Amino acid sequence: MKFTHFGGLPTEAQADLLALPIFADKLNESAVIGALDERLGGTVRPILEEEGFKARPQQTLLVHTQGKLPQKRLLLVGLGPEKDANPADLRHAAAKAAKTARSVSAKSVAIALPASLADERGMQFLAEGVLLGRYRFDRYLTNDDSRRPDTLESAILVGGAGEAAFGRAVRRAEIVAAAVTRARDWVNEPAGTLTPRRLAAEAESLATSRGLSVKVLGPAECRELGMGMYLAVSQGSDEEPRFVHVAYKPKAPAKRRVCIIGKGVTFDSGGLSLKPSNAMEDMKVDMAGAAAVLSAVAAVAELESPVEVHAIAACTENMPSGKSYKLGDVLRSMAGKTVEINNTDAEGRLTLGDAITYALKQEPDEIFDFATLTGACVVALGPHVAGVMTNDTVLSEKWLAAAKSAGEEMWPLPLPERLREMLKSDVADMKNTGERYGGALTAGLFLKEFVGSTPWVHVDIAGPASADKEYGATPKGGTGFAVATLLEYLCR
Ligand code: BES
Ligand code: MN
Ligand code: ZN
Repeated sequence: MKFTHFGGLPTEAQADLLALPIFADKLNESAVIGALDERLGGTVRPILEEEGFKARPQQTLLVHTQGKLPQKRLLLVGLGPEKDANPADLRHAAAKAAKTARSVSAKSVAIALPASLADERGMQFLAEGVLLGRYRFDRYLTNDDSRRPDTLESAILVGGAGEAAFGRAVRRAEIVAAAVTRARDWVNEPAGTLTPRRLAAEAESLATSRGLSVKVLGPAECRELGMGMYLAVSQGSDEEPRFVHVAYKPKAPAKRRVCIIGKGVTFDSGGLSLKPSNAMEDMKVDMAGAAAVLSAVAAVAELESPVEVHAIAACTENMPSGKSYKLGDVLRSMAGKTVEINNTDAEGRLTLGDAITYALKQEPDEIFDFATLTGACVVALGPHVAGVMTNDTVLSEKWLAAAKSAGEEMWPLPLPERLREMLKSDVADMKNTGERYGGALTAGLFLKEFVGSTPWVHVDIAGPASADKEYGATPKGGTGFAVATLLEYLCR
């Protein structure tokens, strides 16, 4: 995609399609709409009225310009009321513009920045929206119609800051969008092909291409390290586990060292606590945390972050077989704590617990983990919002602020001490699951046992890691959730 910048009036931009993202409360007073109305012989306002266009979020109106403008078509895209708006919502508007461009076979689209968001960030969000909105996972489609090539070749960002800001915005958007796209592709890839070995190989070649150091450990090395919980989860599978550690070190002395851990269960059948078929259907998504951190660390390097970043993922399948770990088994973790298994489907926390212990050996200033950990978190916050739990509210506030500016919805959940008793075991230091109520919190409490005093934030992405319908720049299927916030947090 070729991006250019145009500093003149939107009505003068040379493109097949002109897209105008617009706030609901600006609809009547908009100077651009006034100008368009004039150029189109007073037809625009009556059409808005007639079609019920109120500039609600994601509402669009497509108008043919009858040769009266340089652009063949005009697209209005609603942004909702200005006071509720997050500048990052521009991504969704730009994505609508890119998708509309495809549907009318436009080769170029001009997108005008609303006056109040006309800065470098606004330009970045528009560019990201164009790139992310065009995302499709079509490598397995063989039918020509369904893989109809996208005609869109260039996007003109109209308004905003100057040329230098435009250049920076586009470069950054390209890096962010590529990282999100990579994570989406990995999540969407079926578990039959994206095995732990394959994910490790992909992460390794990506990291090597960016000059990062990579360590990939097999089962024997993990055994050496005493990762009894992680290996127990993997033992039911015919696929070997792979523990991946990618490190980025800035050229200058690092400001701080951060470990980002991702849950990397490439397929979660539940193990002997087998999931019903419908609950298993989407369980290739269970490595979305690993996808996010392994993809993000490469982008962190491209953005030359001043922070030292270690991306860590304990990749495995969770399968039932004659070799599976069993209910009632007592596992010894790398940290030395013992765990009684009362549900083999609570496998994520076992893999993460050992990954946290490994991460602590890097002596990080901060630890983050990203995991499609519990259905309970989706019940609590719905399918689009991630749950954030922590042992350090100062750190989690910083993280939540980064999420907000990156436009990813996350919300704090507590880790109530009183729920710890749900994890008490008679035969081991703890059990791996509590009772039904508070399932997201007991999972968080389990992880907290392994982090000690290092500032830590746990992000349960079971809901937003994948979507069952598209919305703006977010496609159906793998979303690449958390990548944008990671880059915001680690590179600003
Ligand atoms: N991978 C699942 C959680 C999940 C659910 C992810 C829905 C994405 C969408 C996790 O391993 C799991 O099975 N969790 C159990 C925990 C329970 C056994 C305590 C759950 O949520 O039911
Ligand atoms: Mn599970
Ligand atoms: Zn799982």
